[in-house]
Amino acid sequence: MSDIKIKITDRDGVLHEVDAPTDMNMNLMEVVRTYELAPEGTIGICGGMAMCASCQCYVKSDHELPEKSDDEEAMLAEAFFVEDNSRLGCQIHISPELEGLEVELAPEEQ
Ligand code: FES
Repeated sequence: MSDIKIKITDRDGVLHEVDAPTDMNMNLMEVVRTYELAPEGTIGICGGMAMCASCQCYVKSDHELPEKSDDEEAMLAEAFFVEDNSRLGCQIHISPELEGLEVELAPEEQ
């Protein structure tokens, strides 16, 4: 079991520092759900298929993240509240390189 620390600011502006396992094939959206940092039904709606943008987050630290897939690009092109540092949390795989990652959850789309 090897964990990394991730700082996640929730939609109320509250900062949470959480441990995320690198060996359970998890993505960032699932970490947020595991720690219940966003109400059920407001994140991960498509189940991590890059098809809903409910898991959008802003990457605050300067970690090198894997390139966006075409699906992620396309979804972010349609989503609300998109910034230059927006990513879909479900497309960010928890790996050891992400130690110390800092993200903020994007506002909920109505
Ligand atoms: S959970 Fe739907 S796009 Fe990430």
